Amino acid sequence: MVTSSAPGKVYLFGEHAVVYGEPAVPCAIERRARVTAERRGDDKLRVNATDLTLDGFTVEYDGDATGTPDVDVAEPLLEEGMGYVNEAVEQARDAADAPDAGFDVTIESAIPLGAGLGSSAAVVIAAIDAATRELGVELDAAEIADRAYRVEYEVQDGQASRADTFCSAMGGAVRVEGDDCRRIEDVPNLPFVVGYDGGSGDTGALVAGVRDLREEYDFAADTVAAIGDVVRRGEQALAAGDLEELGELMDFNHGLLSALGVSSRTLDAMVWAAREGDALGAKLTGAGGGGCIVALDPDDGTETALRYTQGCESVFRAELDTEGVRVEP
Ligand code: PMV
Repeated sequence: MVTSSAPGKVYLFGEHAVVYGEPAVPCAIERRARVTAERRGDDKLRVNATDLTLDGFTVEYDGDATGTPDVDVAEPLLEEGMGYVNEAVEQARDAADAPDAGFDVTIESAIPLGAGLGSSAAVVIAAIDAATRELGVELDAAEIADRAYRVEYEVQDGQASRADTFCSAMGGAVRVEGDDCRRIEDVPNLPFVVGYDGGSGDTGALVAGVRDLREEYDFAADTVAAIGDVVRRGEQALAAGDLEELGELMDFNHGLLSALGVSSRTLDAMVWAAREGDALGAKLTGAGGGGCIVALDPDDGTETALRYTQGCESVFRAELDTEGVRVEP
């Protein structure tokens, strides 16, 4: 039996535009998904999932049949979640040349589902690591990232960048531009505060919406390119350790994402509350539509402001996690 864990992430800059080859800078945060894999005597896959951010739920899953949750979890999210685990196990079987290996898999995640914090990538990364190790094979983080990307690509119908999976596998702040992925070294302390509205966005629909807009309107194509400019300026600010400039650029990035139609009333309310709470900057993180915002604030003004914001269900500080995927004792 092997347990591995992998971190979630926030996007400092660049979500959506990264799908069109612009750079993005996601940062791993100290909130992890833990996956335990135990080899079974047969070829079945049985999944037990405890989502630590909602009421616990358990689901049994055999082969292609979707189990029935015993508490109320959004059905599409659950089905999608099982798709990720199924494909992750397929990758482990492939890597270890063990096509008939069956597993009991247990997932415990402290990362809200579908909320822009990379929950699915963290589960997939940890699942591939735990299942391959259980089969006696040790993959390096770059190969796990690559295999996890293939899983996301498959489950999300070809609409996925390498950003989430690379970031979760490697930890720290990373830069992703097309297939070119690398860690950013010597990152300053980034005082992230996350606000969560308790909801989630439909990544596939949001990505498709931006694609249509970009095809129809020049302004949308220009907006995607402008996000790329903000990211490049953000990289300079990060290298210079200039938090004020980083915050200002996060504000610009949020405005551009709003122009592309991927923000929401609660995401905007949380972004504005963070700014009024003296955050250095704030933006939505991930696909948008609902879920989380990330603000930069070394003091407690943002946390206090978000606690009094209608629509904000929870607030937490999220330290940069410099460690990526790892085996748990
Ligand atoms: O909401 P998340 O954490 O799945 O992030 C989606 C980020 C997008 O850029 C919108 C899509 C992608 O695959 O990069």
